[in-house]
Amino acid sequence: MQISGKTKITGIFGWPVEHTLSPYMQNAAFSHCGLDYRYLPFLVSPDRLSNAIEAIRSLNMCGVNLTIPHKEASLPFLDSVDEEALAIGAVNTIINTKGRLTGHNTDGRGFATALQEQGITLEGCKALIVGAGGASRAVGHYLSRNAKSLHIYNRTHEKAVALASFLSRTTGNAIVVKDLSFLSDYDIIINATSLGLKDDDPLPLDTDLLSPFQIVCDLIYRQTTLLMKAQQKGCRTANGLGMLLWQGAYAFELWTGTRPPVDVMRTALLSIAK
Ligand code: ATR
Repeated sequence: MQISGKTKITGIFGWPVEHTLSPYMQNAAFSHCGLDYRYLPFLVSPDRLSNAIEAIRSLNMCGVNLTIPHKEASLPFLDSVDEEALAIGAVNTIINTKGRLTGHNTDGRGFATALQEQGITLEGCKALIVGAGGASRAVGHYLSRNAKSLHIYNRTHEKAVALASFLSRTTGNAIVVKDLSFLSDYDIIINATSLGLKDDDPLPLDTDLLSPFQIVCDLIYRQTTLLMKAQQKGCRTANGLGMLLWQGAYAFELWTGTRPPVDVMRTALLSIAK
């Protein structure tokens, strides 16, 4: 489809942004649905974030996704933030409605739908999140509302305490900060640290402590050493590609009002993800 005078522009603001897989799946989805939209990567430094968000209005873009490190920093620059994104404390999708910018967060729903697709339900399970950075927030919010219990561990203890108290406040459910000695207590364990992005990274937890009935998820998009070792222990596993897919599908729906062609988006992602 040609770019025309009516083409609507969406995209992603990140720093860095070169690694993003979202343009592949979003542009495949627009093309499949015959929608005159394009999705572009924008390298936005933290000190330019407010200008970049103002440019969504100035350039009449229909919205953007936000990634590291803008998800939390963007909130003050928006006209409104929906209840879910406020409770998470982060925005991953902005919609521009006639110059009015609203912030949403589709990461938690994306995480849940990706697991449901694999037949994994989070309701009633005892969950542990390892990590207390940006990636932990939406997943932590979803789990604190839907799991039976949620524990958080982080290398920097104070960050785990801060995230647990934030999510406890916004969801009304108690969240406990733990160490990693009792891994067998959990039905589901989620790695939300950056450990595993590089092949020579140490493991985020001791896989010898895992048991076959457990589910181990990694928010990293590919098959990490953690997931391979967990599988060897008989655990069910899920990597972060499903969450990436579904958060993008929900964002697509927010911008276009069209049902997302999830299988087209999945094929586009799988063809590019290594
Ligand atoms: P993201 O937005 O991807 O979550 P982040 O906010 O920088 O990125 O968070 C990275 C997470 O990985 C943090 O929980 C971090 O732990 P600290 O808070 O202690 O920094 C964790 N992490 C990164 N490198 C780590 C390492 N070598 N060992 C343990 N945890 C690590």
